[in-house]
Amino acid sequence: MKEFSGKIAVVTGGGTGMGRELVCQLIEEGADVAMCDVSDDNMQETKALAQKKGDGRVLSFLCDVSDEQAVHEFQRHVAKEFGTNHIHILFNNAGIAGGGAFVNMVRTEWDRCFDVCFYGVFYCCDAFMPMLVASDEGYIVNTSSVNGFWASVGPGVSHTAYSAAKFAVKGFTEALITDLRVNAPHIKCSVVMPGHIGTSIALNTSQVHGKGGAMDMSAEEVAFMRGRYSEAGMPVDNLPDDDIRKMVLQVQEDFRDKAPTSASQAAKIILDGVREERWRILVGDDAYVLDEIVREAPEEAYEPSLGEKMRQRGHFKLINRDLTEEK
Ligand SMILES: NC(=O)c1ccc[n+]([C@@H]2O[C@H](COP(=O)([O-])OP(=O)(O)OC[C@H]3O[C@@H](n4cnc5c(N)ncnc54)[C@H](O)[C@@H]3O)[C@@H](O)[C@H]2O)c1
Repeated sequence: MKEFSGKIAVVTGGGTGMGRELVCQLIEEGADVAMCDVSDDNMQETKALAQKKGDGRVLSFLCDVSDEQAVHEFQRHVAKEFGTNHIHILFNNAGIAGGGAFVNMVRTEWDRCFDVCFYGVFYCCDAFMPMLVASDEGYIVNTSSVNGFWASVGPGVSHTAYSAAKFAVKGFTEALITDLRVNAPHIKCSVVMPGHIGTSIALNTSQVHGKGGAMDMSAEEVAFMRGRYSEAGMPVDNLPDDDIRKMVLQVQEDFRDKAPTSASQAAKIILDGVREERWRILVGDDAYVLDEIVREAPEEAYEPSLGEKMRQRGHFKLINRDLTEEK
């Protein structure tokens, strides 16, 4: 896939973040793009931005990728509206965080995270496979994460559902390399592993889990976060509930505003990776350094020393030191 001009692309989660940037950059490069998302308002914003970049067709469809029937409806809609039996490239980008712990898990949150992050990818690959097979060259781009090779965000915090789902996306995509070579050699695939990218994923996630924003957290959720901060050594025991809510909001906003790589830069790196047909696309210097550190000493990957090594090399600045140090 050396160029995107004249190609038909499908992007899941095109409403914000990296998905929005992928839609805009693909249109700028001369592709037609069909996107889906759970937010129609956000998709309309993406559409308006994309239409300023180029003349390609931009299609939006409200679809929850964790709903298999809805994904098939999306596929039929793309075929009908674009009047085509094929697409060239499928970006399985939609994802949410959440569902942190396995021990004492909130089962609905675990399922939601796994269903969107893994089954969303699986259902879309399945639904669009006949259209990829029907194209003269096809490409599948599945977004995993650095949490697809490192199942943690530091020793103090459980990050189990998301990491398990992202490992699954990575494993599925790596296995597809040979599967496609054997069964559909004109289709290639890549797994995308972003480091910290400045998007609203932390802010969006609570909405997707059916909760409001941080300031709407229930007393139970506040107590949970207070416990987490307290265990990490932060002096939060006597803070009013609203101060804890503000702290959570601040963390979510910092995640978006203080990232080392922007969503636009990330989309460019992803598209360049596809053009170069690299099966593993790391996004951001932090992702490269983490990959190196984990490979150098796999047995130490889940020790506090990993956080120290990342900081020595200029990364993990936003991760609270207390969360990555042994208590
Ligand atoms: N931002 C990061 O630091 C980071 C790091 C590693 C991996 N990722 C992954 O990158 C991908 C894009 O995330 P982002 O950071 O741009 O976040 P984002 O929240 O800005 O974008 C994700 C989009 O997916 C949509 N979405 C969520 N659930 C959906 C569903 N069930 N069906 C359809 N659409 C849905 C959201 O509405 C949103 O528009 C995700 O898979 C995420 O896990 C992000």
